[in-house]
This record gives sequence, structure tokens and C-alpha cells, in this order.
Amino acid sequence: MALLEARDIVKTYPGVRALDHVDFILERAQIHALVGMNGAGKSTLVKVIAGAEKPDHGSIFLDGQLLHLNHARDAAQHGIVVVHQERTLIRHLTVAENILLGIEPSQLGVINNQLLRQRARELLENLGIGDLDIDADVEKLGAGKQQLVDIARALRTSPKVIVLDEPTASLSAAETEHLFDTLRRFKERGVGIIFVSHHLDEVFEIADHITILRDGKVVSTGPITAYKPEDVPRLIVGREIAETTSDYVDATGRPVLLEVRNLCGEGFDDISLKVHAGEVVGLAGVVGAGRTELLESLVGYRDVRSGEILIKGESKRIRTPQQAIRHGLILVPEKRMEKGLMMRLDVLENLTVACLPDHSPAGVVSEQSLRQVASNVVKRLGIVTPSLRTNVGNLSGGNKQKIVFGKWLAVGEDVQGKVFLLDEPTEGIDVGARAEMWNIIRGLAAQGAGVVVATSDLEELMVLADRIYIMRAGKVVGSGRRPDFTQETVLQHMLGATEATVVQHTSQ
Ligand SMILES: Nc1ncnc2c1ncn2[C@@H]1O[C@H](COP(=O)(O)OP(=O)(O)OP(=O)(O)O)[C@@H](O)[C@H]1O
Ligand SMILES: [Mg+2]
Repeated sequence: MALLEARDIVKTYPGVRALDHVDFILERAQIHALVGMNGAGKSTLVKVIAGAEKPDHGSIFLDGQLLHLNHARDAAQHGIVVVHQERTLIRHLTVAENILLGIEPSQLGVINNQLLRQRARELLENLGIGDLDIDADVEKLGAGKQQLVDIARALRTSPKVIVLDEPTASLSAAETEHLFDTLRRFKERGVGIIFVSHHLDEVFEIADHITILRDGKVVSTGPITAYKPEDVPRLIVGREIAETTSDYVDATGRPVLLEVRNLCGEGFDDISLKVHAGEVVGLAGVVGAGRTELLESLVGYRDVRSGEILIKGESKRIRTPQQAIRHGLILVPEKRMEKGLMMRLDVLENLTVACLPDHSPAGVVSEQSLRQVASNVVKRLGIVTPSLRTNVGNLSGGNKQKIVFGKWLAVGEDVQGKVFLLDEPTEGIDVGARAEMWNIIRGLAAQGAGVVVATSDLEELMVLADRIYIMRAGKVVGSGRRPDFTQETVLQHMLGATEATVVQHTSQ
């Protein structure tokens, strides 16, 4: 008898059938990967199993028993714990309070509360963050640590089934390894684990079994050993994906659009770099290397302590993101859902906010032209949405991310001379759309923009970047042209496995 079985699940939202007669079986001591394109229905299946969404049709069985799930509480009571794609931490509470939330100390008594704190510490320890202050405000933690606290909370009880929806999105490689060790320990105890991810390398590392969803249907399922890694992307997308490569472009003779001299701020120190028109500059580094802090400081989200920012050769002080945009410096942030979207507005409104002035001759906005712009972006990025008037809050995680990127594409053809700062642009984006995004990013540079891509994905770095800067612990520890590096040598710099050597490059 299976540990958990979802039988013939149907779930329809206005305009979409998110799950179309899905059968899914999880065995004991199995790590079961659930993969598919953005909008394929992964999170919806997770929510149905979690009791957070009621299916229109179908049933969930645990140990052969039919479950009646009307609320997330019901699933939790049966030992099904879930870490959702979007963080569910309470911002103003501490780490401990978040982990223990919902386990009422008044019922369990003071001593149990202490035991629970002890258990919380152990969990954090297992996840490799035993040194985290359990009384710190979660709000103050970085994305990766918040993610781990969310995971620790799910694991605080003795679950039978653990469901993780894209848990590694903001984790460093080391944090991911700790998480995998923890999952393997749960598996040894017979726990069944559902693991949703766009990272196929992780899937092949940890999963025993795989199920591929496309358009709400199961298109393939079986033991992982029955699949070749190179075949899975085609199954996910439903067609061949053209391999993306790009030629190295030497743009170092072209105008310098952005120059940073000896910039210091919180999280980074003495950073100097140049971005030329027509080139993509890769910013490599592990999570926590200071890349996000640097990019946010460039556009005025954070203070700069010392150093200089020059735009087209002129020294500028940038205090707000609005000023940065006026200077043609555009940040597409990481953690896009929090920073880049207006959840209560629809797709059309979110896609066109950035280009309103262009489309309002004499102050009158033409709905017609906005629709045109928005539907072009939807097509180019393959955004899955029932209509332009759908609330972005109702889109799948990856489609939300595409909207934040898309709003800057909507700005139009006039990208020449602008500098795009893209922080982990394809995190959470499926394999098909990722290749399309890469083409679009190369296209921006080809049209005369300067592009900076901060990425932890070495494949992405080597496909996109003409020149590379590698950051570690807030400093640039290596830089050069793409042909001067291999994935291996970049990794060595990122992790600090070599002396900090700076490869001479032609722009200096
Ligand atoms: N609350 C909702 N209201 C309306 N439509 C929804 C809602 N939640 C999901 N959908 C739609 O259901 C479909 C499946 O979404 P789901 O979130 O399950 O995708 P996913 O496979 O998790 O994608 P991603 O990889 O982007 O996270 C999408 O078309 C999405 O727009
Ligand atoms: Mg999802």
C-alpha cells in the first residue's frame, strides 16, 4: 500500500484547468520529484495535498485511508507537512516564535515549550545553521536563512510526508547540501518526500522517483534511473529545446555606460567594475557574496559608504530607484515577488507601469497600445495567464517572475544606452522559458544596452556573460573575459579554492 495517493484530481480556476485528472503515488522512504513548466500545476497539486485548496474532483489517501482535508490543519494532523513556494513566515516574530507557531505552549506546558525550543535548535543545527540566533527577528534574515527557518518549522514535528515546493530557490550550494542530508535522514526513517524543483541536477542528485506535469496532466512518471538527464527537458516542455550558446562579444572598445570605482557599502567592499554598451557582464558568486547588496546600492535601495558611480562618464549620486531609472539604470530584483510586483493589480497593469509615459501622448493613455505592448511581452516570455486582466497574485510562481522581467521589456525598443541589472534572472523559471530569457538578455546587449547578470548558475554565466567578475565575501576576487574562464575556474574563485588572482582583461 502506498504511503500517499492522490487519485484523479481535478482543479479548475477561472480560465484554467490547473490539474486535469492527476494520479500521483508517493511510497514510504521515497523522495519523489515533481517537475514541470511554470504554470504546469505543481504548486496546485502541493496545495491540494496540503489541504490548502479543495479539488473539484478526486481524493487523497494516506496509508490507504481516505482523507477529508478542509484546511491545512487537517493535513498537518495527519502528518503531512508542507513548505510552500511563497514564504509563510510571520515578519515581526523571532526565529523561535516562527518555528513554534501554532503549537500552543499553554496547552503543552512550559517545559514542553523548552523542549520545543531545543527541538528547533536541533533542526537548525541539522540544516547547518545551528549558529543562527533563535531570538533574532526573521525579517532581518537573508532570503536563504528565512527559507531554512520555514523548512525547520515544517520539520518540527515527526512528519509522515514532507512536501517542499522549490525549497532551494534561495539557498547556497552548501545550504542545499545540508538540506539534502536532512531529507535523506527523514527518508531513512520511512518518511515520504515530495520535492518540487526546476533544478534538474538537484532532482537527479536526490530523487528516487520523478513525475512530470504538463498543462495539468501527468505526462511521465517512473523511477529516476529510467530517465536520462538530457531527455527530461524535452518531456517537461513537450518539444525539443534548442541548445543556447552565444558568441563572446568584445565590447570593450565601446562606450562605458556604467563605471563603479572603489565602491564600499554594507555587504561589499572596494568594488570597481565597468559595463560597456553592447556587453553582458556576469557577476558570479555564491549566495551571500554581496552581489545583491551591490546591485541594490547602485540603484539607491541601499546606502553607499564611499566610492564613486559614473554613468556615461559622469559621477552621479543615486539616492532612490526613481533617480536610477531616470539615469537609465534598471534593477530587476531577486525575491521578485516581494519587490517587483503589485499583487492586487492585473497582468496588464503590472506589465505597463514602467512604460506609461511612452504611451500617453498628451497625457492620454491609450488602452489599445498598452494592451498591444503587454500581449507582446506575454507572448515573448510565454507567460501563462488566462487573460491580461488576471490578477498577478493568481499566477504561478514562475509566471510572476516573468512579469517582473517583462515589465522592463515593455519599456520598448529604446534600450540603447540603458543598463539592466538582473539579479538571478532565471531562478524559478522553467527550462523552456529560461532559454528564451537568455535570448532576450543577449538581445538587449545586441541592441546597445549594457547588462549585468548576477547569477549562481554557472551554465547561465557561461552562456550569457562576455566578461565576468567573481565576488566572494563582498570583494571582487577575479575578473576577466569569458574565454579566460571555465565553469571550474569560476567555481574555484567563488569558493575561494585558489589564491585571489585577477586575470588581466583588455578593458583596464
Ligand atoms: N489562486 C489562483 N487563482 C487563479 N488561477 C490560479 C490560482 N493558482 C494557480 N492558478 C493557475 O493555475 C495554473 C497552475 O499554477 P501552479 O501554481 O500550480 O503552477 P506551477 O507548476 O507551480 O508553476 P511554477 O513553476 O511557476 O511555480 C496556472 O495557470 C496558474 O495561473
Ligand atoms: Mg509553483
